[in-house]
Amino acid sequence: MSNIIFAVMFIYCVILFVCPVRNAVAGADAGSLFKTHCIVCHGEDGRGTDLGKQLAAMAEGVEFPDFTSADWQAKKTDERMIEQIKNGSPDRMFPFKDKLSEEEINVLVVYVRGFPSR
Ligand code: HEC
Repeated sequence: MSNIIFAVMFIYCVILFVCPVRNAVAGADAGSLFKTHCIVCHGEDGRGTDLGKQLAAMAEGVEFPDFTSADWQAKKTDERMIEQIKNGSPDRMFPFKDKLSEEEINVLVVYVRGFPSR
């Protein structure tokens, strides 16, 4: 348990330091945004990493999304995704509303939508 918390804090720190530099270089490129901010938990292939799955497993009734699943995509609205990215969920996914612009968040939703056909 404490290992997971440590891992999350460590990754969070890395992200905080790396982001401004990466963003300046990458602009609003969807793939780079996803790699920079989301990949640690959601994985490059969108199916989720062990860390992401473990974080979801710590809370009861929380399902970790597989972005490649057409069923999952069909159940989620863009609004729901935008809300999740902006506000996150306590102890699991941190909020990105202060880190990403509206445009970057919209670009990420489109990117997440693209996983089933990738
Ligand atoms: C520290 C780990 C972590 C990071 C980083 C992270 N997520 Fe998540 N995300 C989660 C977990 C865990 C869930 C499962 C749902 C929950 O916790 O309520 C989730 C759920 C989601 C969902 C589904 C919400 C729903 O209603 O089912 C979307 C969409 C999402 N994340 C997008 C993103 C995007 C885009 C990024 C990058 C900007 C990102 N996540 C970064 C951990 C993370």
